[in-house]
Amino acid sequence: MVNERMFFALWPPAAVRDALLAVRAGLPGAAGRENHPLDLHLTLVFVGAVDPERRPCVEAAGDGLALPGFELSLDESGDWPRAGIRWCRPGTFPATLPALVQALQARLRACGISPEPRPFRPHVTLARKAAATPRNPLPAPVPWSVREFVLAASLAGRRPAYQVLRRWPLT
Ligand code: 2AM
Repeated sequence: MVNERMFFALWPPAAVRDALLAVRAGLPGAAGRENHPLDLHLTLVFVGAVDPERRPCVEAAGDGLALPGFELSLDESGDWPRAGIRWCRPGTFPATLPALVQALQARLRACGISPEPRPFRPHVTLARKAAATPRNPLPAPVPWSVREFVLAASLAGRRPAYQVLRRWPLT
């Protein structure tokens, strides 16, 4: 468990996961390498490899944030062709979502970790190396009542590839 890659994420409850799997099954074109169903998630902040001294700080970064739960509607599918990523995402989202991301980034900075410079583009990756799929509104958007966030680790070469390490409620 040394230097494993870590990230903060929203992890879908079973009903949301099943709805996302149904969306994925309905998309046209070769699906490429589909994520394991238990790996579906929406990344908040990618942390990367964490050295052992910083790990306790990262594991505490979600403590006491005191943010409310919120509603998401995953209502668009599409892909980023250069990266071959096929995704489902909320076209719009409440301000609490980026506020959660910014709060976690601030906590990570306090741990001595510089967050990813990439802009936050909330999405659930459904498949990689997938054929292009048209960007479309979903005929039946997937509602997601977000009531918690998690810290997860990436287990190289394993399926499922991710393991939830800690969960925090949004109240
Ligand atoms: P992706 O699904 O769009 O590939 C674990 O790797 C999670 O962190 C994935 O959801 C991945 O997003 C996201 N992530 C964000 N930045 C990353 C980076 N630089 N390297 C690997 N994964 C990254």
